[in-house]
Amino acid sequence: MSIIYKKESGTITIHTKNSSYQMRVTPHGFLQHTYYGRRIEDENMSYLFLNYDRACSGNPDEVYPSRKISLDTMAQEYPGYGVGDYRIHPISLRNSDGSRAVDFRYVGHEIKEGKYSIDGLPSSYDDGDGAETLIVTITDRVTKVTAELIYGVFEEKDIITRAVRVVNNGKGTVKLTRAFSMSLDIPYGKWDMIHFHGKHAFERQTEREPLGHLVKTVGSARGTSSHQENPFVIVADRNACEDFGECYGMMLVYSGGFKLQAEVDQFDSTRLVMGLQDEQFSWHLDAGDAFSTPEVIMSFSGSGLTKLSHNYHKFIRNNICRGKYKLARRPILINNWEATYFDFTDEKLLQIADEAAPLGIEMLVLDDGWFGERNSDNAGLGDWFVNEKKIKCGLKSLIEQINAKGLKFGIWIEPEMVNEDSELYRKHPDWALTIPGRRPNRTRNQLVLDMARPEVRDYLYGRIEDLLSNNHIEYVKWDMNRSIADAYSASAPEDRQGEVLHRYILGLYELMDRITTNFPDVLIEGCSGGGARFDAGILSYSPQIWCSDDTDPIKRLSIQYGTSFGYPVSTMGAHVSASPNHQTGRDTTIHTRGIVAMSGTFGYELDPSKLSDQDKEEIKEQIVQFKKHYDLIQNGLYYRLTEIKKDYYEAWEFAAEDGSEALLNVVATDVQPNPALMHIRLKGLESDAVYEIDDSDLKKYTEGCPPYLLADSVEVKRLTGDALMNAGYTLPWAFGTYPAFQMHFKKVK
Ligand code: DGJ
Repeated sequence: MSIIYKKESGTITIHTKNSSYQMRVTPHGFLQHTYYGRRIEDENMSYLFLNYDRACSGNPDEVYPSRKISLDTMAQEYPGYGVGDYRIHPISLRNSDGSRAVDFRYVGHEIKEGKYSIDGLPSSYDDGDGAETLIVTITDRVTKVTAELIYGVFEEKDIITRAVRVVNNGKGTVKLTRAFSMSLDIPYGKWDMIHFHGKHAFERQTEREPLGHLVKTVGSARGTSSHQENPFVIVADRNACEDFGECYGMMLVYSGGFKLQAEVDQFDSTRLVMGLQDEQFSWHLDAGDAFSTPEVIMSFSGSGLTKLSHNYHKFIRNNICRGKYKLARRPILINNWEATYFDFTDEKLLQIADEAAPLGIEMLVLDDGWFGERNSDNAGLGDWFVNEKKIKCGLKSLIEQINAKGLKFGIWIEPEMVNEDSELYRKHPDWALTIPGRRPNRTRNQLVLDMARPEVRDYLYGRIEDLLSNNHIEYVKWDMNRSIADAYSASAPEDRQGEVLHRYILGLYELMDRITTNFPDVLIEGCSGGGARFDAGILSYSPQIWCSDDTDPIKRLSIQYGTSFGYPVSTMGAHVSASPNHQTGRDTTIHTRGIVAMSGTFGYELDPSKLSDQDKEEIKEQIVQFKKHYDLIQNGLYYRLTEIKKDYYEAWEFAAEDGSEALLNVVATDVQPNPALMHIRLKGLESDAVYEIDDSDLKKYTEGCPPYLLADSVEVKRLTGDALMNAGYTLPWAFGTYPAFQMHFKKVK
């Protein structure tokens, strides 16, 4: 039993393997939050709190005449608003009488076996974990607005999920203006916030900021989870690092706008709230109506950031990703986007297939431009019919010919969008989100379809169903290339326009659900102008997401590094592209590009007919190498061995969970003349085991280095886990253009 209720103390305690979480029903019926941190057995943690008479922090009526209990100073599980707690809050609303107050008291709770699900929204699921669910009901005794606080407990995985269902049990209409998924009060400590900001082609950059006596907000108001911030945030002890210290993770299972706020209050207690973006949000609740928030995945690590990342990696892989390709090896693909952009014909695609198959590539993905009048990015979106001027032989025949060459076939779509220059828009202009009387805001000359409308989804489903049922398509890249503006639906009444952005996401999920249910064997890769929707919502339907439109391996390092804090490499779409790189003009070797792309789903995005014979040979070797280490890379424990951009090289490692092998990856980002000796300390090995070192790739790191610069060679073919983890492996002199190597360690005794 991981959820324990004690009537005498009023405590409800959740235990995971290494953490405990506790709330308590106080004698007055407040739901106090008492603890979340390292596991503590059988204790009423409310002793942590002393009640003082705090000036200007008022007292709720039921404690009268005491002046020592205040909602403004109490750690609470899900605070209300407008009744004496002035801190950031997870809920706000307008009651039917116009008042704004919401004041919760405990009503009851229920503990159930199994994991809850949420109507209309994706959420994590029990993968044989023996998960449990706790539902705590709190209500406003005057308005009868009720919140069901829902918790999912995955004891072995150190994960607690949270969601909230707000129910209007009163008589009048309530307008919700904020409905967050969680609130967490941490009454002690000095904390930093680590968040993952970015921009197009430079997503999920790591930034660490101290929390202080002001409200910090991380979020997206773009209708997508966004390039600019990710719905995953870590709050870490100021001294916490990869292997030491306390940290909390919060990840929203949602693909639209979101908000996380953090505030250190007057008594140095930290409050965190997270949920749906509320800036353009309102939700109409008639009597009896309910609103469900998306889920937040929380984890606590008492031993640093690496452990926190491992908790998320396992959970995303096993309890968020679904379907045939959740654990199965995904095909190594070649995508034609950077090879041809819009300029291709069926002959060109067949030529790419001819060149790719002998290299060991397993699937050809036809990207943007195969439909309607899509000869540039100004037209055609919405017209999901094959352009037979480009694909003269027809799609079915093209796929058959590609299959005959031994390759699977995948295709790109961007269902949620429409160009004004398209048959679809000419027929249904009102299907696009636009505000009456205003000219639309365009991005890439495209508008956003109103995904909340069933007829829009039915049209899209019909087109996708037709494509997938009549053609042997085994992969779909689902793109979405803009932030949403003009959030106004022609089909919704004036007082429901605040619902449009959330209803859009509900519609998107409904469509994705229909497609994955009816075409379970098709692998979907999420994409949003690169990684603008890299989130656990999309991962519930597609086990991989195109990480970024930046394929420069050196810039990719910080993107994949930042992404790795919350998401496993099995989710990160990564390709080897051409050199010089199309985004930066940088030259890198195919070897370095391969090493970086292998720490992801691995594929190619270039014209193979332009490759040298030497590069083709190297690709063949890369594919053999990737397949050989596939399990280790995709399912092993991922270790960040360097802090990004702090040194002249970056290093990361995959280690088998049982310590039997490891794969070290190193890229020199700023080669040095006369370099200092650098020792890379490995992680996750067995201390007293002996490891055989396969250093055959090292020659690529020193290639071209004049012999007089090389060290006298020291033969190190075997080292103990102790030596590798405590003293490290000595890096040789890096020479050339961003040299890189992989090194394999195998336990031999
Ligand atoms: C953005 C994606 O991220 C690219 O990979 C490519 O598919 C283009 N869209 C096509 O328009």
